Amino acid sequence: MDKLRIGFAMCGSFCTFDKVMAVMQELVNRDMEVTPIMSNMAYSTDTRFGKAEEINKRIESICGKEIIHTIEKAEPIGPAKMFDVLLVEPCTGNTLAKLASGITDTAVTMACKSHLRNSRPVVLAVSTNDALGNSAKNIGQLMNYRNVYFVPLRQDDCKMKPRSVVADFSLTVRTLEAAIESRQIQPMIM
Ligand SMILES: Cc1cc2nc3c(=O)[nH]c(=O)nc-3n(C[C@H](O)[C@H](O)[C@H](O)COP(=O)(O)O)c2cc1C
Repeated sequence: MDKLRIGFAMCGSFCTFDKVMAVMQELVNRDMEVTPIMSNMAYSTDTRFGKAEEINKRIESICGKEIIHTIEKAEPIGPAKMFDVLLVEPCTGNTLAKLASGITDTAVTMACKSHLRNSRPVVLAVSTNDALGNSAKNIGQLMNYRNVYFVPLRQDDCKMKPRSVVADFSLTVRTLEAAIESRQIQPMIM
């Protein structure tokens, strides 16, 4: 059987990067072909969670491929039918808003637009402090879109951050496998 081809798109939710890179490694260990994609924010910002250059090197070493981080490099994803499924993990509030509104101004939103034109699945793993605030309408809108699936979500700290929601990254593989069969795994809200 051919290897499953995954586009793995990362946005600027930096606090999740360690967990997300562990998922990336798991996909590679499962013999999937993983191509990293990053928004400009994710690719180029040094934060207290790590230096961009070091994180990017780790990602390229896990995947054995260069990171797609420009709109120009992401544009051929659809025409070349590069992926069976496109994962956006972590997906920020910013990128949720853009995807819900059809705005395409980063490598990640370009990748989604280009991939969706082939009616292939996009899987979103949300991580944002305003998921139950300003982003709620965008999450709701995207849940209603064809070919868009969600890694199940939960409130990560309901006392200190009552509007914050983070996907359960440990369910990524199950969500991807179901999305390829046009199914959303349940429960979606945990
Ligand atoms: C240290 C740091 C952590 C951040 N964490 C998050 C986060 O967890 N979720 C989120 O939606 N935005 C977070 N942001 C804000 C996003 O990085 C910002 O909205 C950015 O424009 C996102 O761009 P992108 O969606 O193209 O990656 C964080 C920013 C910084 C500097």
